[in-house]
Amino acid sequence: MNLRDKHILLIITGGIAAYKMPLLVRLFIKAGAEVKVVVTAAAQEFVAVKSLAIVSQHPVYTDQYLQTNDADLAHLDLTLWADLIVVAPATANTIAKAAQGLADNLATTAILATTKPVYFFPAMNDQMYQQPATQRNLHQLIADGRQVFEPETGFLAEGYQAKGRLPEPATIFNLVVQTYWRQTQPQPLAGKRVLVTAGGTREAIDPVRYVSNHSSGKMGYALATAAYAAGAEVTLISSVARPLTIPAKVISVTSAAELMAQIQAEFSQQDLLLMAAAPADFRSAQPATQKIKKQAGQTDLTLTLTKNPDILASLPVAHPDQFVAGFAAETENLLTNAQTKLTKKHLDLIIANPVGRQDSGFNVDQNQGTLLFRDGHQVTLPLMTKDLMATEIIKQICAYLKL
Ligand code: CTP
Repeated sequence: MNLRDKHILLIITGGIAAYKMPLLVRLFIKAGAEVKVVVTAAAQEFVAVKSLAIVSQHPVYTDQYLQTNDADLAHLDLTLWADLIVVAPATANTIAKAAQGLADNLATTAILATTKPVYFFPAMNDQMYQQPATQRNLHQLIADGRQVFEPETGFLAEGYQAKGRLPEPATIFNLVVQTYWRQTQPQPLAGKRVLVTAGGTREAIDPVRYVSNHSSGKMGYALATAAYAAGAEVTLISSVARPLTIPAKVISVTSAAELMAQIQAEFSQQDLLLMAAAPADFRSAQPATQKIKKQAGQTDLTLTLTKNPDILASLPVAHPDQFVAGFAAETENLLTNAQTKLTKKHLDLIIANPVGRQDSGFNVDQNQGTLLFRDGHQVTLPLMTKDLMATEIIKQICAYLKL
């Protein structure tokens, strides 16, 4: 998910956490957005206007702008420019004014004048946050169609732990991106449950060693994120822990046997299964219960491996109301091998994926492949980032399912 070419108006009001906002501006810009910043008079006590101007690559807008801008729509041009307004930190005072529809400074004027999404990130002393007046105002903003995010419980400027803290810039960024996508992009998977698997499994040899493969889980995580962006409720079964920026039910597994047990427990409740995991095909026939020690003079070690069950092939052959997609990781005969797996594993889609190369496949950020659908329809995706490829795969599946 990105913010390419989106115009974000960041309104900073007078809370101590304002000092972190240059980091938020940078995160928005790195994600492709253009950012303009409005600061209230109180906010200028906590964050340097010059820092914000440098990171946003724009002048910073203060209340003076209302007096000095001689454009016809001086109080409106920023809101017309913006696709999205983020108010962070949002003080109790600005929240109260916005809830009343007051417009006594540039920040509140912009909020009142806009028809675009406005996201409030309240941050204040816990007593102020709990006050019925503040809670009433927050409910009013929600009733008016504004998005209000809960402050975090944590260490407040007052020196104690309580609810009222502004989330870290990275958290605000993720919440903004997810919410904006879900509000503005088509939601073909709304109401659908999507199960995604990610990562290579680890099969124990003894308590300290295992057999595994190079799968990093990146493609699975990207698919989970893209499915969420398309409106789905996502469950992710993963053998690797990576940062996940969407709300999802995450189930951790280690071995192929655990992965299989979890998939079988979940499958009947899911509309789609996207099997990006790379389960090990073999496991140690007899994992040692103690660490295997080298013997004096020993030059080699023979390990007996036994076959793991094929998880996809173990699912019901007929699944008329469920869509199942697998990946074919191949180093040669890509399309022929993929086609065989499509049939043998009773899949609706297989993504033929060249692996064992430097530029795509396992453990890199890019990927490419050909989508082979059950009805013979094929789509080839050129080399692209895994995030983009995941979005493309979801788009193609939705088109195939006429969603
Ligand atoms: N898969 C599975 N259970 C296994 C192995 C693989 O369900 N024990 C799934 C993978 O998650 C993937 C698809 O089957 O979606 C194809 O996996 P791949 O490793 O390409 O093929 P294999 O079936 O393991 O065949 P081979 O190793 O012989 O290429």
